[in-house]
Amino acid sequence: MKEYWRENSLVNPNELEFGTHPYVCVTGDTHADMDWMKLNMQRFPEQKTMTRNDVLIIAGDFGGIWSGRNDDGSESRSDDYFLKFYEMRHFTTLFIDGNHENFSALASYPVVEYAGAKCHQIRPHVYHVMRGEVLHIAGHRIWCMGGAESNDKDRRIPYKSWWPEEIPTEEEWRHAEKMLLKERPDIIITHEAPYKVYEAFNMYGYHPNPVSERFDRIFGMIRRNEIPVMTWYFGHHHKDRVAEIDGIRFRCLFQKIEAARCLNPEYYRLPDGTLTAELNWGEDVGAERWWNDSLKF
Ligand SMILES: [Fe+2]
Repeated sequence: MKEYWRENSLVNPNELEFGTHPYVCVTGDTHADMDWMKLNMQRFPEQKTMTRNDVLIIAGDFGGIWSGRNDDGSESRSDDYFLKFYEMRHFTTLFIDGNHENFSALASYPVVEYAGAKCHQIRPHVYHVMRGEVLHIAGHRIWCMGGAESNDKDRRIPYKSWWPEEIPTEEEWRHAEKMLLKERPDIIITHEAPYKVYEAFNMYGYHPNPVSERFDRIFGMIRRNEIPVMTWYFGHHHKDRVAEIDGIRFRCLFQKIEAARCLNPEYYRLPDGTLTAELNWGEDVGAERWWNDSLKF
């Protein structure tokens, strides 16, 4: 097997001391290879010292399982290509499901337990965290809940480019709520966000949908039960923004990768005490930079 780390002048992963301090990084949608450039060495240099004990969590719309299985049950060539990329990283990749996933193929992978949560094991170091499960990593309890409604589903083909399973079932919601009350997480990772937070993120064009409305209910449940949620990460909206609402730091992620372990809300606080709402990072990056970045995997 080729020594990828040597060819790319990285640290030899076998010589790293295995993590007494697991590192938890979170980012937004990757959509197979369309938005995975943020994971290259230039934009995500932390990965040079990460080990298999450290995790990157993708907040839905992973997209690496999209073409699904061939007639003989083997993985499609394109999915294998995407998944090889993640398996070659030094860290362990976890993802929750968004709305752009092939749910039929996803369900075909074996269910295992990783860090206390039920997951589909996709590769030795790539896992899909199932809905409502709670990861226990680095002293954090991370409640994960996938699913979102596609607003372009009318233009998509059922079971080819759109799956009704994108909306969680009542049974999945109940399980998730039960886990939330039992585990009392300090971090939440979802694909969609509560509708109540849309305004804080200047997302005025959006309408409530079954998933965002259910998250409104869950937001209320968190406050009533004083669940010590510090940060609620979500993706789906293709923005990098932050806002604090009722003591919870809501973080919409797309191009940014954030280290949950080194989380410091002060970092985002302006001198007058208000929290910044960041611009979509993609707006600052010219086409040339995007292209150059893409060559550096
Ligand atoms: Fe999405």
